Amino acid sequence: MSLEVNLLSKPRFDVISIFPEYLAPLSLSLVGKARENEVIEIAVTDLRDFAEGVHRSVDDTPYGGGAGMVMSAEPWAKAIDSIASERSSHHELIILTPAGKRFNQQMAYELAQRDHLIFACGRYEGIDYRVTEHYRESPDFTVREISIGDYVLNGGEVATLVILEAVIRLIPGVIGNPASLEEESHSLLGENEEQLVEYPSFTKPAQWRGLDVPAVLLSGNHGEIARWRAEESMARTKKLAE
Ligand code: ADE
Repeated sequence: MSLEVNLLSKPRFDVISIFPEYLAPLSLSLVGKARENEVIEIAVTDLRDFAEGVHRSVDDTPYGGGAGMVMSAEPWAKAIDSIASERSSHHELIILTPAGKRFNQQMAYELAQRDHLIFACGRYEGIDYRVTEHYRESPDFTVREISIGDYVLNGGEVATLVILEAVIRLIPGVIGNPASLEEESHSLLGENEEQLVEYPSFTKPAQWRGLDVPAVLLSGNHGEIARWRAEESMARTKKLAE
């Protein structure tokens, strides 16, 4: 697993949605600060700006019949082409769908290395599949279909927020204390290269509502503390698999 993030240029994240307001949290907290400090660039595009007609319609009934509506290919292609034409870099097109590959920390590290990510937030029964096929044929794009879990959301916006938060915090200069990332990445893999979850954390006071902080954490013995944390990580990981 690659845990190093090396970037030559400032990463750019474009999000396309019919509900741009859904992406408002991207102005808050660490992600918002990273934008203010110009460590990253994020732009949200309204898909309807690329739709035709008085109704600016972006969907239609599915070929073959069935319930719901499918998002039409042309507004998506116009939006994606317009965004891509402004940058010479390779583009990673991420299509959010419950039928995609499950997002995980390894993927977050991979995406954090890319110069330009474009998130396509589909709604309804998804986007006409020819959009995926069309950009898969282009040498300027890598297309990934990603799901954040085995459940169905109303659209890709929340999934995009999840992925962006996981990716952007890995970009150098985003987190104030990179030692915490370092620790996380070291604790990510167990002896058998399996992914481990974090050990439990405690802060002052040492006694709270009759509960004591584990004595080893107050011992000052760094070797013992590291051993205890590794054991807790392994025990927690094992318990999750039960
Ligand atoms: N769109 C709808 N459900 C989704 C999911 N689970 N992951 C990503 N995008 C989605």
